[in-house]
Amino acid sequence: EKNETAKIMKDFIYKKIKDYLIECRNCSLCFAECHTQKVAGDGNFSSPIVLIGEGPGEEEDKLGKPFVGRAGQLLNTLLSKFNVDRNRIYITNVVKCRPPKNRTPYVNEVKACSEILNLELEFISPKVIITLGSTPLKFFRPEQSITKMRGIWIKEKNYWIMPTYHPAYILRQRGERLETTKKEIYSDFKNAFLKLK
Ligand code: URA
Repeated sequence: EKNETAKIMKDFIYKKIKDYLIECRNCSLCFAECHTQKVAGDGNFSSPIVLIGEGPGEEEDKLGKPFVGRAGQLLNTLLSKFNVDRNRIYITNVVKCRPPKNRTPYVNEVKACSEILNLELEFISPKVIITLGSTPLKFFRPEQSITKMRGIWIKEKNYWIMPTYHPAYILRQRGERLETTKKEIYSDFKNAFLKLK
């Protein structure tokens, strides 16, 4: 009976997430010119790990799936190093609508979208969350900076949060810094996957 109640709750929350996404007008991002559609989280709702990015870019907006552009390719490569198929985990973003010119979402837009992300997390109830870049870190810890916090575990509710750099950050690095950044992201992912064991 306990399992049955849990299932009913899950179905209820999932329906709420879907309805919410379709109908949401909580901020002005969905009226932006570059906006085609809302990009929902994607993957396995039973995943013990959730990856959170910033928001859809051009490709994501076009295809309606998170992390399918250049950053997505980097993410796929990274996941393949751990033998993880992205369909087995859950990938989402802080905001579900592409911000104009891919700018960082404003605080009010993050706030407006937070209800959906909170529902997703409640629905999936992951053990581990990897935040990719500054925006999802600030969702949980508004005062913290990614350069200070990357690689350091944060405990929030029942989640262990591992903040790391956004994969697109790699694209902006050169030389030695590039190699260090790659190693740091790899090590953060490794720690996150080890935590599941
Ligand atoms: N960058 C993000 O933060 N999210 C995406 O979905 C794609 C690129």
